[in-house]
Parts: sequence; C-alpha cells; structure tokens
Amino acid sequence: MAVAMRLLVLLAAMAATAIGKSVKNPADALAREINRNLTAANLPTLYNNPGLGCVALQYIQAYQGQCSDVGPNGQRPPEASFKTTLADNCGVDPSSVADITGTILACETEYRDARYAFSSLLFKESSTLATLQSSNHTEFGVGISGYEGGAPYFWCVLLSNGTPKSSFSFSDSKAKYQKTGCFSGTGEACSGGAGSFRRVASLIPASMFVADEFGLRKSTTRPWRKIFWFSLHLYFTAWSIFLTLVVGIITSPFRFLNAARREKLLEAQLRELQQHYEELGEKKGDLERRLEVTARDRKRIKESLDQAVGEWEKSIDRLKLLKARVRGKTYFSTI
Ligand SMILES: *[C@@H]1O[C@H](CO)[C@@H](O)[C@H](O)[C@H]1NC(C)=O
Ligand SMILES: *[C@@H]1O[C@H](CO)[C@@H](O)[C@H](O)[C@H]1NC(C)=O
Repeated sequence: MAVAMRLLVLLAAMAATAIGKSVKNPADALAREINRNLTAANLPTLYNNPGLGCVALQYIQAYQGQCSDVGPNGQRPPEASFKTTLADNCGVDPSSVADITGTILACETEYRDARYAFSSLLFKESSTLATLQSSNHTEFGVGISGYEGGAPYFWCVLLSNGTPKSSFSFSDSKAKYQKTGCFSGTGEACSGGAGSFRRVASLIPASMFVADEFGLRKSTTRPWRKIFWFSLHLYFTAWSIFLTLVVGIITSPFRFLNAARREKLLEAQLRELQQHYEELGEKKGDLERRLEVTARDRKRIKESLDQAVGEWEKSIDRLKLLKARVRGKTYFSTI
C-alpha cells in the first residue's frame, strides 16, 4: 500500500504541476492590455501596483455578486472604506493609501478573456476610455473574481495618483491571503489557485471544481487547457489500471480458496456417484441370479406337467379299453 500511496502522490504532483503551470493570472493579462493601449496612444504607462490590485479585488467582494449594482447609477462602496476595510483586508498599510482617481467596473454572467474584457466590457464607452487616458493617474490595480466560485464575474480597475512603489504598500511585504479571485501586480497565480489545488489534487473529483472555481479552466490558454485535460485523463487511466491490479491481487487468495473448495466438493460428489454405481451393479447381479433360479423352476414345473398329461392320456386309453371289453361281454350274455 506504501507503493500505491507513493504512486498516487507522484501522479497527483504531476497533474498539479501541469495545471499549476497552465495557470496565468488574468488580472495581470488585463493590466498588460491597459498599458498596451496607453502605449499605442503614445501615453505613459501606469505602474501595476499589487496593493491597489488587491484593493480592487476587495472592492469586488463588496458587491456581494450583485451585478445590477454595477453601472453609472449603481451603488459604490464609500470612499472612506478604501482606507479602512478594503485596505485592511489586504494587509495594506492604511497610511500608504493614496487617492483613487478612477474606478472602472464591469460585470457579466460569462467569463471573458483579458482582451474582450478590456475592449468590450470595461473600455467600450468613450467615457471610461477617457478616464483611463486622462493624465491624472500614476498607477493602477486590477481585480477579477467570480461570485462564490462561479458567475457572475466582476472586473475592477482602480486608478490612483499615488506615488508608485510606496503607496498601497503591504505592512507585511505581502498581501493577506485572498480566498478567491485574481489581482494584478504580483505575477503570481490567482489566490486559492495552485497552492490549495495541490492540497486537493489527491481527491481528484474535487479538482475539477477547484479548477473551475478559481476560473482556472477558463483563464488557461487553449494548448494548456488540452494538456490539463490530457493529464487528468492520464491520471484517471493510470489510477484505474492500478486499482484493477490491486483488486486482482487482493482477491486472488479468495479465488484460489474458492476453487479449492469447489474441487473438494466435486470430488465428494464423484465418490458418491461411484458408490451408487457399485451398488447398482450388485443389485443387477442379484436380480440375474434370481431370474436364473426362476427359469430353472419353470423348466421343472413344465416337465412335471408334461409327465402328468402323459399319464392322464394313458389312463384314458385304458378306460376306453375297459369300456370296450365290458360292452363285448354284455353282448354275448344277451344272446
Ligand atoms: C484603446 O482601446 C479602445 C477600446 O478598445 C480602442 O477603441 C482604441 O482604439 C484603443 N487605442 C489604441 C491606440 O489602440
Ligand atoms: C483630472 O484631474 C483634473 C484636475 O485635478 C480634473 O479637473 C479632471 O476632471 C480629471 N479628469 C478625469 C478624467 O478624472
């Protein structure tokens, strides 16, 4: 069983690596789209601030999955909450929080890749594009998350005029753990991605959920997605072959015992049949002997019957002779 465990761990690690490597951070992909658009418009690029990215992810959480609250007339968390709740949930030092100079938010029931999210969701309106391209910002952060591991999906871009690299800094030099979603600036996989995946990789049926929950399946590029499903398939196949082998090995003594028991039973039946056959043979001999005796008796009876008939015929002949003699005497005496 130790070998089985090692094999399982190895396969799980292989699958996890294949999946982990296939994960790209869609928030960073969207950040790249933003800077590409600015560069194309001959504008200076903006600093991709991880602290601000994490706050953008927290900003999404505040909507509690309510897509209808997103929009020009929708509700927004109060400005003050940036400094307190949102920053605190990210482990961002409140004193480093700078002004937010732009908030661009989108929500959709379907997951979209970075290019689509940029051109068709977030910056489709000229007003939001103008906000981005105004020279009021120095840095930005992107957060992307589904609600409770699924639709609707939220995209949030926060812009700030803070001092790059010193504003929105983490008190612990690292963002506080985020349960779900992705944020830009760290170059790392999405929160709850590869790390927690490795923990559940051994419970493979759950892994599909996990892959989906964090938008991993959708955020992977096509070849990686194929490799992901191929490795999973490979994993399942190897595991099922292995299980079949183990079951075969475990049940073989039982099968052997069963066969031995059945052989003994058949042997006993055979012996019983032989005995029966012998008994029948004996009975047959007995009957043959009796038949012989009966035949002999019959012959003897027939002989005595023949003898009796012979004697009877002789007696009749003698009677006839006597009658004839008596009739002759009578005739002479009457003359
Ligand atoms: C920037 O993005 C917007 C929205 O997709 C697009 O209309 C515009 O052409 C882009 N600008 C450049 C210079 O590529
Ligand atoms: C940029 O900042 C200026 C001055 O602070 C302000 O008047 C303007 O409305 C801002 N533009 C945008 C798009 O926020």
